[in-house]
Amino acid sequence: MVTPAAMNHIAYQTTDLAATHAFWTKALGARLAGAVRQDAAITSSGESMNPFLHVFYELAGGECIAFFDVAGEYQAKDDGLEWWAKHLALSVSSQEELAAVAQQLRDHGVEVRGPVDHDGLWYSVYCFDPNGVHLEITHQTRPLGEPDAIEARSLYDTWLADRAAERV
Ligand SMILES: [Fe+2]
Repeated sequence: MVTPAAMNHIAYQTTDLAATHAFWTKALGARLAGAVRQDAAITSSGESMNPFLHVFYELAGGECIAFFDVAGEYQAKDDGLEWWAKHLALSVSSQEELAAVAQQLRDHGVEVRGPVDHDGLWYSVYCFDPNGVHLEITHQTRPLGEPDAIEARSLYDTWLADRAAERV
């Protein structure tokens, strides 16, 4: 079995490209590393696609967060999810870096929550980017080991059982 090696990029849509560019380059220091511009097109399955610019902002580790600025009219979709659940967590390598990034964001006028201590394993601050992307900036204090995997399996099993029995 091949397990993919790493996340290459994650893509969102932006409705304010200039604010998005400022946030990712100025508040978080990501580099505009690539872009793809495409004219209106029809997909192989017959759906129409509006013209767009696809921009890639590169993190220090080489992964990218990407955005589509889509021109023209389209039918917007709502994902219907809990507001906090879907988020993107970005790593920093120390508590000092976490504090520094939180300050960078605040200096950019961004409301930052935290730091939150998650079991001493992750220390995280949270904010939203100009597109409503829920961001977590986190310092993971140690790698996940075998005891973590064993506990995860136990939590998974008991959670499913509790859900099935309507205990939660
Ligand atoms: Fe998270």
